[in-house]
Amino acid sequence: MTAAGLTARRGGPLRGRVRAPGDKSISHRSLILGALAHGVTEVEGLLEGDDVLRTAAAMGSFGAKVERLGEGRWRIEGQGGFAEPADVVDCGNAGTGVRLIMGAAAGFPLSATFTGDASLRGRPMNRVLKPLGEMGASWICRAGGRLPLTLRGGGLRRLAYRLPEPSAQVKSAVLLAGLHAEGGAEVFEPEATRDHTERMLRAFGAEVVVHEEEPEGRGGRRIVLPGGQALTAAKVCVPGDPSSAAFPLVAALVVPGSEVTVEGMLLNPLRIGLLETLGDMGADLSVTNVREEGGETVADVTARYSQLTGVDVPPERAPSMIDEYPILAVAAAFASGATVMRGIGEMRVKESDRIALMAAGLSACGVGVEEGPDSLTVVGSVRANHGVAGGARVVTHGDHRIAMSHLILGLAADAPVAVDEPSMIATSFPGFLTLMRQLGAEIEG
Ligand code: S3P
Repeated sequence: MTAAGLTARRGGPLRGRVRAPGDKSISHRSLILGALAHGVTEVEGLLEGDDVLRTAAAMGSFGAKVERLGEGRWRIEGQGGFAEPADVVDCGNAGTGVRLIMGAAAGFPLSATFTGDASLRGRPMNRVLKPLGEMGASWICRAGGRLPLTLRGGGLRRLAYRLPEPSAQVKSAVLLAGLHAEGGAEVFEPEATRDHTERMLRAFGAEVVVHEEEPEGRGGRRIVLPGGQALTAAKVCVPGDPSSAAFPLVAALVVPGSEVTVEGMLLNPLRIGLLETLGDMGADLSVTNVREEGGETVADVTARYSQLTGVDVPPERAPSMIDEYPILAVAAAFASGATVMRGIGEMRVKESDRIALMAAGLSACGVGVEEGPDSLTVVGSVRANHGVAGGARVVTHGDHRIAMSHLILGLAADAPVAVDEPSMIATSFPGFLTLMRQLGAEIEG
Protein backbone atom coordinates (compact mmCIF):
# COMPACT_ATOMS: atom_id res chain seq x y z
CA MET A 1 0.00 0.00 0.00
CA THR A 2 1.37 3.39 -0.90
CA ALA A 3 1.03 6.56 1.11
CA ALA A 4 -0.37 8.30 -1.95
CA GLY A 5 -3.81 6.74 -1.88
CA LEU A 6 -5.85 3.79 -3.08
CA THR A 7 -8.71 3.71 -5.56
CA ALA A 8 -11.46 1.09 -5.73
CA ARG A 9 -13.61 0.63 -8.82
CA ARG A 10 -16.50 -1.53 -9.91
CA GLY A 11 -15.51 -4.80 -11.61
CA GLY A 12 -16.85 -8.34 -11.81
CA PRO A 13 -18.36 -10.38 -8.96
CA LEU A 14 -16.26 -11.19 -5.90
CA ARG A 15 -15.77 -14.88 -5.29
CA GLY A 16 -13.73 -17.13 -3.05
CA ARG A 17 -12.90 -18.38 0.43
CA VAL A 18 -10.61 -16.37 2.70
CA ARG A 19 -9.49 -16.30 6.34
CA ALA A 20 -10.02 -13.19 8.39
CA PRO A 21 -6.93 -11.96 10.26
CA GLY A 22 -6.71 -12.68 13.99
CA ASP A 23 -9.07 -10.80 16.27
CA LYS A 24 -7.53 -7.53 17.40
CA SER A 25 -9.14 -7.47 20.86
CA ILE A 26 -8.09 -11.03 21.66
CA SER A 27 -4.58 -10.46 20.25
CA HIS A 28 -3.92 -7.46 22.54
CA ARG A 29 -5.21 -9.37 25.55
CA SER A 30 -3.14 -12.49 24.84
CA LEU A 31 0.06 -10.43 24.95
CA ILE A 32 -0.89 -8.47 28.06
CA LEU A 33 -2.10 -11.49 30.05
CA GLY A 34 0.90 -13.48 28.85
CA ALA A 35 3.20 -10.76 30.20
CA LEU A 36 1.34 -10.60 33.53
CA ALA A 37 1.41 -14.39 33.98
CA HIS A 38 4.12 -16.64 35.30
CA GLY A 39 5.60 -18.88 32.61
CA VAL A 40 5.44 -19.27 28.85
CA THR A 41 2.31 -18.33 26.92
CA GLU A 42 2.10 -19.43 23.30
CA VAL A 43 -0.19 -17.61 20.92
CA GLU A 44 -1.34 -18.80 17.52
CA GLY A 45 -3.07 -16.65 14.94
CA LEU A 46 -1.99 -13.36 16.52
CA LEU A 47 -2.99 -10.35 14.43
CA GLU A 48 0.29 -8.87 13.21
CA GLY A 49 -1.13 -5.40 12.65
CA ASP A 50 0.62 -2.26 13.85
CA ASP A 51 -1.67 -1.85 16.89
CA VAL A 52 -0.90 -5.30 18.24
CA LEU A 53 2.82 -5.11 17.39
CA ARG A 54 2.96 -1.98 19.57
CA THR A 55 1.46 -3.93 22.44
CA ALA A 56 4.01 -6.72 21.88
CA ALA A 57 6.83 -4.18 22.06
CA ALA A 58 5.27 -2.56 25.13
CA MET A 59 5.14 -5.92 26.92
CA GLY A 60 8.87 -6.26 26.23
CA SER A 61 9.49 -2.88 27.80
CA PHE A 62 7.52 -3.92 30.91
CA GLY A 63 9.88 -6.89 31.34
CA ALA A 64 8.33 -9.83 29.47
CA LYS A 65 10.36 -11.80 26.93
CA VAL A 66 8.37 -11.56 23.72
CA GLU A 67 9.43 -13.54 20.68
CA ARG A 68 7.93 -14.14 17.23
CA LEU A 69 8.20 -17.83 16.34
CA GLY A 70 6.58 -17.68 12.90
CA GLU A 71 3.58 -16.22 11.11
CA GLY A 72 1.06 -15.37 13.83
CA ARG A 73 2.96 -17.56 16.31
CA TRP A 74 4.31 -15.78 19.36
CA ARG A 75 5.91 -16.79 22.66
CA ILE A 76 5.61 -14.60 25.72
CA GLU A 77 7.62 -15.40 28.82
CA GLY A 78 5.83 -13.56 31.60
CA GLN A 79 7.54 -12.57 34.82
CA GLY A 80 4.35 -12.62 36.90
CA GLY A 81 4.23 -8.82 36.92
CA PHE A 82 5.42 -5.63 35.27
CA ALA A 83 8.79 -3.91 35.80
CA GLU A 84 9.30 -0.18 35.19
CA PRO A 85 9.96 0.58 31.52
CA ALA A 86 13.21 2.39 30.74
CA ASP A 87 11.63 4.62 28.09
CA VAL A 88 8.35 6.07 26.87
CA VAL A 89 5.77 3.44 25.86
CA ASP A 90 4.42 4.36 22.42
CA CYS A 91 1.11 2.60 21.68
CA GLY A 92 0.82 4.02 18.16
CA ASN A 93 -2.82 4.22 17.05
CA ALA A 94 -4.14 1.70 19.58
CA GLY A 95 -6.77 2.82 22.09
CA THR A 96 -7.24 -0.75 23.27
CA GLY A 97 -3.49 -1.22 23.70
CA VAL A 98 -2.88 1.89 25.77
CA ARG A 99 -6.00 1.64 27.94
CA LEU A 100 -5.53 -2.02 28.82
CA ILE A 101 -1.80 -1.62 29.43
CA MET A 102 -2.43 1.37 31.71
CA GLY A 103 -4.86 -0.76 33.72
CA ALA A 104 -2.39 -3.62 34.00
CA ALA A 105 0.54 -1.31 34.85
CA ALA A 106 -1.41 0.53 37.56
CA GLY A 107 -1.19 -2.57 39.75
CA PHE A 108 2.58 -2.26 40.17
CA PRO A 109 4.80 0.26 42.01
CA LEU A 110 6.27 1.84 38.86
CA SER A 111 6.09 4.97 36.75
CA ALA A 112 5.39 4.64 33.05
CA THR A 113 4.97 7.32 30.41
CA PHE A 114 2.57 6.56 27.57
CA THR A 115 2.13 8.22 24.21
CA GLY A 116 0.72 7.44 20.78
CA ASP A 117 0.18 8.87 17.32
CA ALA A 118 -1.74 12.10 16.68
CA SER A 119 -5.10 10.28 16.70
CA LEU A 120 -4.42 8.48 20.00
CA ARG A 121 -3.05 11.67 21.58
CA GLY A 122 -6.42 13.27 20.81
CA ARG A 123 -8.53 10.54 22.44
CA PRO A 124 -9.96 10.69 25.98
CA MET A 125 -8.02 8.75 28.61
CA ASN A 126 -10.06 10.18 31.51
CA ARG A 127 -12.52 7.31 31.21
CA VAL A 128 -9.71 4.97 32.35
CA LEU A 129 -7.82 7.39 34.60
CA LYS A 130 -10.90 8.11 36.72
CA PRO A 131 -11.42 4.54 38.01
CA LEU A 132 -7.66 3.90 38.22
CA GLY A 133 -7.37 7.08 40.33
CA GLU A 134 -10.18 5.84 42.61
CA MET A 135 -8.15 2.67 43.11
CA GLY A 136 -5.10 4.73 44.15
CA ALA A 137 -3.06 5.28 40.96
CA SER A 138 -1.88 8.80 40.14
CA TRP A 139 -0.83 10.49 36.91
CA ILE A 140 0.11 13.67 35.18
CA CYS A 141 -1.24 14.29 31.70
CA ARG A 142 -2.14 16.89 29.08
CA ALA A 143 -5.37 18.85 29.34
CA GLY A 144 -8.53 16.77 29.01
CA GLY A 145 -6.81 13.54 30.07
CA ARG A 146 -4.82 13.36 26.83
CA LEU A 147 -1.57 11.55 26.11
CA PRO A 148 1.34 11.77 26.68
CA LEU A 149 0.80 10.94 30.33
CA THR A 150 2.81 9.44 33.14
CA LEU A 151 1.08 6.94 35.37
CA ARG A 152 2.26 5.97 38.83
CA GLY A 153 0.88 2.67 40.08
CA GLY A 154 1.02 0.38 43.07
CA GLY A 155 -0.77 0.11 46.43
CA LEU A 156 -4.20 -0.16 44.79
CA ARG A 157 -7.40 -0.71 46.77
CA ARG A 158 -10.62 -2.44 45.75
CA LEU A 159 -13.08 -0.58 43.54
CA ALA A 160 -16.67 -1.35 42.61
CA TYR A 161 -17.16 0.66 39.43
CA ARG A 162 -20.25 1.34 37.35
CA LEU A 163 -19.28 2.02 33.72
CA PRO A 164 -20.62 5.42 32.65
CA GLU A 165 -20.25 4.46 28.97
CA PRO A 166 -20.41 0.97 27.42
CA SER A 167 -16.67 0.37 27.03
CA ALA A 168 -14.91 -2.98 27.13
CA GLN A 169 -11.62 -1.09 27.28
CA VAL A 170 -12.55 0.65 30.54
CA LYS A 171 -14.01 -2.55 32.01
CA SER A 172 -10.81 -4.40 31.11
CA ALA A 173 -8.53 -1.70 32.53
CA VAL A 174 -10.33 -1.89 35.89
CA LEU A 175 -10.24 -5.70 35.95
CA LEU A 176 -6.55 -5.84 35.04
CA ALA A 177 -5.74 -3.27 37.74
CA GLY A 178 -7.92 -5.30 40.13
CA LEU A 179 -5.63 -8.31 39.72
CA HIS A 180 -3.12 -6.50 41.91
CA ALA A 181 -5.46 -4.42 44.06
CA GLU A 182 -6.14 -5.26 47.69
CA GLY A 183 -9.55 -6.97 47.51
CA GLY A 184 -9.71 -7.11 43.69
CA ALA A 185 -12.29 -5.21 41.66
CA GLU A 186 -15.90 -5.26 40.61
CA VAL A 187 -17.38 -3.72 37.47
CA PHE A 188 -21.06 -3.18 36.73
CA GLU A 189 -21.86 -2.60 33.09
CA PRO A 190 -25.48 -1.58 32.36
CA GLU A 191 -25.08 -2.91 28.81
CA ALA A 192 -22.92 -5.96 28.14
CA THR A 193 -19.71 -5.26 26.18
CA ARG A 194 -17.26 -7.72 24.62
CA ASP A 195 -16.15 -10.17 27.31
CA HIS A 196 -12.77 -11.34 26.02
CA THR A 197 -10.93 -10.13 29.14
CA GLU A 198 -13.20 -12.11 31.44
CA ARG A 199 -12.91 -15.23 29.28
CA MET A 200 -9.15 -14.98 28.94
CA LEU A 201 -8.57 -14.24 32.63
CA ARG A 202 -10.33 -17.54 33.34
CA ALA A 203 -8.18 -19.32 30.74
CA PHE A 204 -5.13 -17.96 32.62
CA GLY A 205 -6.45 -19.49 35.85
CA ALA A 206 -8.13 -16.48 37.49
CA GLU A 207 -11.48 -16.60 39.21
CA VAL A 208 -13.97 -14.21 37.59
CA VAL A 209 -17.62 -14.30 38.64
CA VAL A 210 -20.17 -12.82 36.23
CA HIS A 211 -23.72 -12.08 37.37
CA GLU A 212 -25.96 -11.49 34.36
CA GLU A 213 -29.25 -9.57 34.56
CA GLU A 214 -30.54 -11.56 31.60
CA PRO A 215 -28.61 -14.79 31.15
CA GLU A 216 -26.69 -15.04 27.86
CA GLY A 217 -28.14 -11.66 26.87
CA ARG A 218 -26.85 -8.14 26.32
CA GLY A 219 -28.30 -6.75 29.54
CA GLY A 220 -26.37 -5.57 32.57
CA ARG A 221 -23.56 -7.60 34.05
CA ARG A 222 -21.71 -7.44 37.35
CA ILE A 223 -18.22 -8.83 37.06
CA VAL A 224 -16.43 -9.70 40.26
CA LEU A 225 -12.70 -10.35 40.37
CA PRO A 226 -11.38 -11.42 43.78
CA GLY A 227 -8.01 -9.86 44.65
CA GLY A 228 -4.58 -11.42 45.07
CA GLN A 229 -4.75 -13.67 42.02
CA ALA A 230 -1.70 -14.81 40.10
CA LEU A 231 -2.10 -15.74 36.43
CA THR A 232 -0.68 -18.92 34.96
CA ALA A 233 0.61 -19.00 31.37
CA ALA A 234 -1.78 -20.50 28.81
CA LYS A 235 -2.05 -21.39 25.16
CA VAL A 236 -4.16 -18.97 23.11
CA CYS A 237 -5.66 -19.59 19.65
CA VAL A 238 -6.83 -16.28 18.22
CA PRO A 239 -9.99 -16.59 16.10
CA GLY A 240 -10.71 -14.51 12.97
CA ASP A 241 -11.75 -10.93 13.66
CA PRO A 242 -15.45 -10.28 12.91
CA SER A 243 -14.69 -6.55 12.63
CA SER A 244 -12.27 -7.28 9.75
CA ALA A 245 -14.38 -10.08 8.21
CA ALA A 246 -17.14 -7.49 7.90
CA PHE A 247 -15.38 -5.84 4.92
CA PRO A 248 -15.25 -8.80 2.50
CA LEU A 249 -18.70 -9.95 3.66
CA VAL A 250 -20.37 -6.60 3.01
CA ALA A 251 -18.46 -6.31 -0.28
CA ALA A 252 -20.07 -9.60 -1.38
CA LEU A 253 -23.52 -8.31 -0.39
CA VAL A 254 -23.25 -5.14 -2.51
CA VAL A 255 -21.32 -6.31 -5.60
CA PRO A 256 -23.76 -8.13 -7.96
CA GLY A 257 -23.14 -11.84 -8.47
CA SER A 258 -20.73 -12.21 -5.55
CA GLU A 259 -20.29 -15.09 -3.11
CA VAL A 260 -17.59 -14.92 -0.45
CA THR A 261 -16.85 -17.19 2.51
CA VAL A 262 -14.79 -16.04 5.48
CA GLU A 263 -13.44 -19.01 7.41
CA GLY A 264 -12.82 -19.21 11.14
CA MET A 265 -14.66 -16.05 12.14
CA LEU A 266 -15.26 -15.37 15.83
CA LEU A 267 -18.97 -15.58 16.68
CA ASN A 268 -18.85 -14.38 20.28
CA PRO A 269 -22.47 -13.31 21.03
CA LEU A 270 -21.22 -9.85 22.06
CA ARG A 271 -19.53 -9.31 18.68
CA ILE A 272 -22.19 -10.36 16.15
CA GLY A 273 -24.46 -7.32 16.05
CA LEU A 274 -23.50 -6.63 12.42
CA LEU A 275 -24.51 -10.13 11.28
CA GLU A 276 -27.86 -9.71 13.04
CA THR A 277 -28.42 -6.33 11.45
CA LEU A 278 -27.48 -7.51 7.97
CA GLY A 279 -29.86 -10.44 8.51
CA ASP A 280 -32.63 -7.96 9.39
CA MET A 281 -31.83 -6.14 6.13
CA GLY A 282 -32.43 -9.32 4.15
CA ALA A 283 -28.80 -10.30 3.56
CA ASP A 284 -28.19 -13.81 2.24
CA LEU A 285 -25.76 -15.05 4.90
CA SER A 286 -25.05 -18.60 5.97
CA VAL A 287 -23.09 -19.82 8.95
CA THR A 288 -21.51 -23.27 8.68
CA ASN A 289 -18.91 -25.40 10.42
CA VAL A 290 -19.69 -23.89 13.84
CA ARG A 291 -17.10 -25.05 16.37
CA GLU A 292 -15.46 -24.18 19.70
CA GLU A 293 -11.85 -23.04 19.58
CA GLY A 294 -9.96 -21.81 22.63
CA GLY A 295 -13.10 -20.98 24.62
CA GLU A 296 -14.77 -19.04 21.79
CA THR A 297 -17.28 -20.05 19.10
CA VAL A 298 -16.01 -19.74 15.53
CA ALA A 299 -17.60 -20.58 12.18
CA ASP A 300 -17.36 -20.07 8.43
CA VAL A 301 -19.63 -17.29 7.21
CA THR A 302 -20.79 -17.00 3.58
CA ALA A 303 -22.31 -13.85 2.10
CA ARG A 304 -24.02 -13.69 -1.30
CA TYR A 305 -25.10 -10.62 -3.24
CA SER A 306 -28.47 -9.50 -1.82
CA GLN A 307 -31.18 -6.90 -2.29
CA LEU A 308 -30.92 -5.16 1.08
CA THR A 309 -33.67 -3.18 2.81
CA GLY A 310 -33.01 -0.32 5.22
CA VAL A 311 -33.74 -0.94 8.91
CA ASP A 312 -33.81 0.82 12.27
CA VAL A 313 -30.87 -0.65 14.17
CA PRO A 314 -31.85 -1.14 17.84
CA PRO A 315 -29.62 1.19 19.93
CA GLU A 316 -29.03 -1.57 22.50
CA ARG A 317 -27.20 -3.49 19.78
CA ALA A 318 -24.50 -0.79 19.56
CA PRO A 319 -21.87 -2.33 21.88
CA SER A 320 -21.95 -5.58 19.91
CA MET A 321 -21.13 -3.85 16.62
CA ILE A 322 -19.60 -0.50 17.56
CA ASP A 323 -16.65 -0.86 15.15
CA GLU A 324 -18.92 -2.11 12.35
CA TYR A 325 -21.20 0.93 11.86
CA PRO A 326 -18.94 2.44 9.16
CA ILE A 327 -19.23 -0.68 6.98
CA LEU A 328 -22.92 -1.05 7.87
CA ALA A 329 -23.40 2.50 6.56
CA VAL A 330 -21.90 1.32 3.25
CA ALA A 331 -24.30 -1.65 3.09
CA ALA A 332 -27.11 0.81 3.88
CA ALA A 333 -26.09 3.02 0.95
CA PHE A 334 -26.98 0.17 -1.43
CA ALA A 335 -30.24 -0.79 0.32
CA SER A 336 -33.78 0.28 -0.44
CA GLY A 337 -35.06 2.75 2.14
CA ALA A 338 -33.36 4.42 5.07
CA THR A 339 -31.19 2.79 7.71
CA VAL A 340 -31.30 4.57 11.05
CA MET A 341 -28.45 4.01 13.51
CA ARG A 342 -29.11 5.47 16.96
CA GLY A 343 -27.24 5.40 20.25
CA ILE A 344 -23.86 5.42 18.53
CA GLY A 345 -22.27 8.44 20.25
CA GLU A 346 -19.23 6.31 21.17
CA MET A 347 -18.33 6.34 17.47
CA ARG A 348 -17.26 9.96 17.86
CA VAL A 349 -14.34 9.02 20.15
CA LYS A 350 -12.82 6.21 18.10
CA GLU A 351 -9.70 6.55 15.92
CA SER A 352 -11.62 9.47 14.37
CA ASP A 353 -15.08 10.98 14.75
CA ARG A 354 -16.58 8.16 12.72
CA ILE A 355 -20.11 9.61 12.54
CA ALA A 356 -18.78 12.83 11.00
CA LEU A 357 -16.35 11.12 8.63
CA MET A 358 -18.87 8.55 7.37
CA ALA A 359 -21.43 11.30 6.83
CA ALA A 360 -18.87 13.39 4.91
CA GLY A 361 -17.50 10.48 2.87
CA LEU A 362 -20.89 9.06 1.94
CA SER A 363 -22.32 12.42 0.95
CA ALA A 364 -19.22 13.14 -1.16
CA CYS A 365 -20.12 9.86 -2.94
CA GLY A 366 -23.69 11.05 -3.56
CA VAL A 367 -25.38 9.13 -0.71
CA GLY A 368 -28.14 10.84 1.29
CA VAL A 369 -27.13 11.03 4.97
CA GLU A 370 -28.36 12.76 8.08
CA GLU A 371 -26.05 13.18 11.04
CA GLY A 372 -27.29 13.59 14.63
CA PRO A 373 -25.29 14.03 17.83
CA ASP A 374 -25.37 10.28 18.43
CA SER A 375 -27.02 8.96 15.30
CA LEU A 376 -26.55 8.49 11.58
CA THR A 377 -29.23 7.91 8.95
CA VAL A 378 -28.29 6.63 5.51
CA VAL A 379 -30.81 6.81 2.67
CA GLY A 380 -30.34 3.81 0.42
CA SER A 381 -29.79 4.41 -3.28
CA VAL A 382 -32.42 1.92 -4.40
CA ARG A 383 -35.34 3.94 -3.05
CA ALA A 384 -33.73 7.11 -4.37
CA ASN A 385 -33.88 5.22 -7.69
CA HIS A 386 -30.27 5.61 -8.74
CA GLY A 387 -26.98 3.93 -7.96
CA VAL A 388 -24.34 5.22 -5.59
CA ALA A 389 -22.43 7.85 -7.58
CA GLY A 390 -18.98 7.48 -5.99
CA GLY A 391 -16.36 9.53 -7.82
CA ALA A 392 -14.90 11.15 -4.68
CA ARG A 393 -11.56 11.21 -2.90
CA VAL A 394 -12.41 10.55 0.73
CA VAL A 395 -10.56 12.08 3.67
CA THR A 396 -10.01 9.39 6.32
CA HIS A 397 -8.10 11.32 9.02
CA GLY A 398 -5.88 8.24 9.26
CA ASP A 399 -8.76 5.99 10.34
CA HIS A 400 -8.34 2.43 9.02
CA ARG A 401 -12.04 1.55 9.16
CA ILE A 402 -13.09 4.74 7.36
CA ALA A 403 -10.58 3.90 4.61
CA MET A 404 -11.65 0.25 4.20
CA SER A 405 -15.36 1.14 4.28
CA HIS A 406 -15.07 3.65 1.45
CA LEU A 407 -12.96 1.28 -0.63
CA ILE A 408 -15.73 -1.32 -0.35
CA LEU A 409 -18.21 1.38 -1.40
CA GLY A 410 -16.04 2.05 -4.46
CA LEU A 411 -16.32 -1.61 -5.54
CA ALA A 412 -20.03 -1.15 -6.21
CA ALA A 413 -20.33 2.59 -6.97
CA ASP A 414 -20.84 4.09 -10.46
CA ALA A 415 -17.46 5.89 -10.41
CA PRO A 416 -14.23 4.94 -8.57
CA VAL A 417 -13.68 5.98 -4.96
CA ALA A 418 -10.24 6.97 -3.65
CA VAL A 419 -9.04 7.20 -0.06
CA ASP A 420 -6.07 9.05 1.40
CA GLU A 421 -3.63 7.57 3.97
CA PRO A 422 -4.32 3.88 3.14
CA SER A 423 -1.18 2.87 5.04
CA MET A 424 -3.25 3.14 8.24
CA ILE A 425 -5.22 0.05 7.16
CA ALA A 426 -2.26 -1.96 8.47
CA THR A 427 -3.18 -1.04 12.07
CA SER A 428 -5.94 -3.66 12.06
CA PHE A 429 -5.93 -5.50 8.70
CA PRO A 430 -2.48 -5.60 7.10
CA GLY A 431 -3.59 -8.16 4.49
CA PHE A 432 -6.72 -6.26 3.42
CA LEU A 433 -5.57 -5.33 -0.07
CA THR A 434 -4.19 -8.80 -0.89
CA LEU A 435 -7.30 -10.51 0.45
CA MET A 436 -9.71 -8.25 -1.43
CA ARG A 437 -7.73 -8.63 -4.67
CA GLN A 438 -7.74 -12.40 -4.20
CA LEU A 439 -11.54 -12.19 -4.23
CA GLY A 440 -11.41 -10.22 -7.48
CA ALA A 441 -11.69 -6.66 -6.17
CA GLU A 442 -10.24 -3.91 -8.35
CA ILE A 443 -8.32 -1.75 -5.91
CA GLU A 444 -5.27 0.12 -7.20
CA GLY A 445 -2.76 2.39 -5.62
C1 S3P B 1 -12.27 -2.87 22.19
C2 S3P B 1 -13.37 -2.21 22.65
C3 S3P B 1 -14.10 -1.20 21.86
C4 S3P B 1 -13.73 -1.25 20.38
C5 S3P B 1 -12.25 -1.39 20.17
C6 S3P B 1 -11.74 -2.66 20.82
C7 S3P B 1 -11.60 -3.85 23.08
O1 S3P B 1 -13.75 0.07 22.35
O2 S3P B 1 -14.20 -0.10 19.72
O3 S3P B 1 -11.93 -1.41 18.80
O4 S3P B 1 -10.77 -4.64 22.57
O5 S3P B 1 -11.89 -3.85 24.27
P1 S3P B 1 -14.52 0.73 23.62
O6 S3P B 1 -14.22 -0.07 24.79
O7 S3P B 1 -13.99 2.12 23.71
O8 S3P B 1 -15.97 0.70 23.23
